[in-house]
Amino acid sequence: MSVALAGPRCRLCRLSGTRTHVVAGTGDREASLMFIGEAPGRDEDLRGVPFVGRAGRLLDGALAAAGVSRDDVYITNLVKCRPPGNRRPKGDEVQACRAHLEAEVRAVGPEVVCLLGQTVARHLAGSRGRMRDIAGKEITVKLAGREVQAFVAYHPAACLYRRENVESLTETVRLCAEAAGLR
Ligand code: URA
Repeated sequence: MSVALAGPRCRLCRLSGTRTHVVAGTGDREASLMFIGEAPGRDEDLRGVPFVGRAGRLLDGALAAAGVSRDDVYITNLVKCRPPGNRRPKGDEVQACRAHLEAEVRAVGPEVVCLLGQTVARHLAGSRGRMRDIAGKEITVKLAGREVQAFVAYHPAACLYRRENVESLTETVRLCAEAAGLR
């Protein structure tokens, strides 16, 4: 079920000018585990649902391998609208969308968040390291006014052509699920 916090008419940043849909988070509204991706891609923009394209299928596979159902977690993105050409979201876009993310965190109240990729880790945790150094690491992030246990994982899109990244992502999903009491 979608937590309809980022309204379909949001105009807080320039991404509203090129998007098809605002892509709000989906999943269990009381999930103990929340995944935060970077931004919707083309498939997500067209359907209005996060992680439904190739990267999404890879995330589904990592969840299944870790014994977790997509219905038991909450999945969202740092920004809710697709950046043109799938470029990285800019700092001011992330800032503008922060209120939407914080509202989701406040509504869902996850015990654990999984930060998918370097861009998300940089914006939410100030991580400057390379993915190979920070993947699987447990950290704390301040979200919606509270400290939340977090893990950094490879972004599923970074796993499409690198098998070793899939193993790392799956292992981190497993760690997250255990920390969130799902296993
Ligand atoms: N990549 C993301 O970061 N989020 C999505 O929803 C899809 C692809």
